[in-house]
Amino acid sequence: MELRKILNDFDASEAYALFEPRWQESVDTYAELPILSDNDLLREACAFCGLDQVTTDHALEFSRAIARTPGLALLFWHCHRLVYVAHEYPQRHFTRWPLFSRLGKDAGAFYLLLALSIVPSIRLLHQARGIPESVSRASLFDVALNVRRFSRVRPGLTGILPRGLHWFRRHAGGGLLRIDRLEYIITPFQGTVTVLRHRRSGATLALSQAGIAYQADGLRPVVPLPGGAVPAGGFVSQYAETEEHISGNPVLPVGVVLRDPLALVKSAWEKRLSPGAPVLEMHIPEGGGMGLDVCFNSMRQAIDFFRRYFPDQPFTSIAMQSWILSPDWERIYRPDANFVQLQREVYLYPLPNDGKVLYFIFDRDDVDLKTALRDTSLRRAILDHLGRGGILRNGGMVFLVDDIERFGTQQYRNGSLFLGLKAQDRAALAEYDIAIWREK
Ligand SMILES: CC(C)(COP(=O)(O)OP(=O)(O)OC[C@H]1O[C@@H](n2cnc3c(N)ncnc32)[C@H](O)[C@@H]1OP(=O)(O)O)[C@@H](O)C(=O)NCCC(=O)NCCS
Repeated sequence: MELRKILNDFDASEAYALFEPRWQESVDTYAELPILSDNDLLREACAFCGLDQVTTDHALEFSRAIARTPGLALLFWHCHRLVYVAHEYPQRHFTRWPLFSRLGKDAGAFYLLLALSIVPSIRLLHQARGIPESVSRASLFDVALNVRRFSRVRPGLTGILPRGLHWFRRHAGGGLLRIDRLEYIITPFQGTVTVLRHRRSGATLALSQAGIAYQADGLRPVVPLPGGAVPAGGFVSQYAETEEHISGNPVLPVGVVLRDPLALVKSAWEKRLSPGAPVLEMHIPEGGGMGLDVCFNSMRQAIDFFRRYFPDQPFTSIAMQSWILSPDWERIYRPDANFVQLQREVYLYPLPNDGKVLYFIFDRDDVDLKTALRDTSLRRAILDHLGRGGILRNGGMVFLVDDIERFGTQQYRNGSLFLGLKAQDRAALAEYDIAIWREK
């Protein structure tokens, strides 16, 4: 069956290039997914994910319709493979996948069923690791959160948005788990810093990766300049290791990189995290209410939990990249906001904008400043900031798991190393076996 014809039948011929990769392979391997034909399996998946009766009934009804329509069933199989099998298929494409208008009220249910189609195999992976069912259920509640978002975007309808599928691709390996308020997955560190610990004092210092263009203020341009060009007055970070030294641009824990590189005496410092090493990556499902106690409880439990259930994947740190970690929020929003308080407990580093904050807070990628909802203080703060011509950026953080019992003390900001770095105080830095880096 031809992809072009199927897409034409669903008024989506313009999406051909998006769905074309691996099409022939899907035709050759076509098999009906059990979730479409086994009503009990689907009903059970819906219940496990916390879906209500209306959504469950809709999913059941539409699954039968897909199974009855050969072109749609093949497209469903193909989409399932693009999401869960074709790992090279870029997740940014999901954002451009259309809600097939020809499907009417079922357009979002097509994608909901795609999310549900992986639930049985995720449950098996959880069971194989011995993960408690309560954690498995809490984690797969992500399906219900996506349905909730869909009903805000398309009132009166059930389903999920195609862009939500990338999250179920992450779930598919069975390693994305919700522990109380927050979600975690062990994954290679995507951040742009190396984190070191001073052996004698226990002080922590992050150095930037080499070759990153920073602005004069030590932040990254909101949108990286073409060809990695350096912003006016800015600088490019350096990083080097020799037998005796580890040298690079220091990152202040408030999320700012300093222009002048330092040289650390290698034997006096222990490397605790490098780009690419496994970390416990943290994520924040929607819902607010993430006070410091709530974060602490979740992080502490997550460290123990992942050590216990994933002993084969050791990690030294928790890490996150998010709009909530931009150091600008203290000013844009309020210094006592929950996520601003969290920022003070972790080691921040700068990132450009990834453009997702509006999606997370307004359920869309652009807002009309005149008509956008101003019903919460966070929304008002963002709209006022944008109205003043302000920009939004992302931020990154790391937190060494050995430090968990000191959570709540702002440990990375309080030490004399931080003060010495800010003041560029050579004597204070020498106490930490640090010198200003002189290139030979
Ligand atoms: C990130 C988040 C959890 C912050 O939680 P928090 O700091 O504990 O927020 P609070 O519960 O203290 O709420 C503070 C204000 O923000 C509002 N708010 C919280 N989440 C909101 C959301 N998703 N959309 C709009 N407003 C939101 C609250 O209603 C409250 O407004 P009020 O002062 O008028 O009552 C929350 O914004 C959220 O749920 N975001 C969606 C998910 C997300 O962005 N994850 C990060 C992905 S990178």
